[in-house]
Amino acid sequence: MVTLTVDDRSIQAPEGSSVLAACLSAGIYIPHLCWLEGDTPEDAPAACRLCLVEIDGFAQPVTACSQLVESGMTVRTDTPAVRELQKTALKLLLSVHRVDCRNCPANKACGLQATAKFLGTGLNCKPFASVLKEPEVDHRHPLFDYYPNRCVLCGICIRRCDQTGGASGLSFAGRGFDTVVGYFDTDPQAAARCGACRACIAACPTGALVEREASGE
Ligand code: FES
Repeated sequence: MVTLTVDDRSIQAPEGSSVLAACLSAGIYIPHLCWLEGDTPEDAPAACRLCLVEIDGFAQPVTACSQLVESGMTVRTDTPAVRELQKTALKLLLSVHRVDCRNCPANKACGLQATAKFLGTGLNCKPFASVLKEPEVDHRHPLFDYYPNRCVLCGICIRRCDQTGGASGLSFAGRGFDTVVGYFDTDPQAAARCGACRACIAACPTGALVEREASGE
């Protein structure tokens, strides 16, 4: 075990774990969206940037999900600078997200709502121009509908599919603002391999993947 200090509290964590996992296990909440339970610092994609923290001796804030715990480390999760960075990360995610909670199946179980509540920002805090995509809904997958404008590209659906051996062909497609979650385009056999386990749908934190029956489309 490794002993570190987080927000003036001494905590212990297994060697090899991330700062994020260590803090969550100790009951110290850090916002996070793209981290999956069990992720090691090496596995973590560090895509959402919500989990930025300060660590004494480090030149700049780091993502807690991709930072290895070290003995004697001093971590700060709750300084004004950290909260500002986390709020900025949330605003960036919201700039590509259509806020329409009443018509979203993730309403009240949404990672963005939970983060906004924790940070005290609300969801209408976008300072950046919205970059919303067309089409509004992609119906090509046999099991679910995909809503690109709800998707914040956390990649959790892709990784959950990989973990369950689904070999579904889920992957990022496109570039820059046009990036989406794609499927089957480059591998026609992937549709047949999808085991319909629905792990991708269950893991999506923003209602971007909606099982066909429940979508009403
Ligand atoms: Fe760390 Fe997303 S949870 S960057």
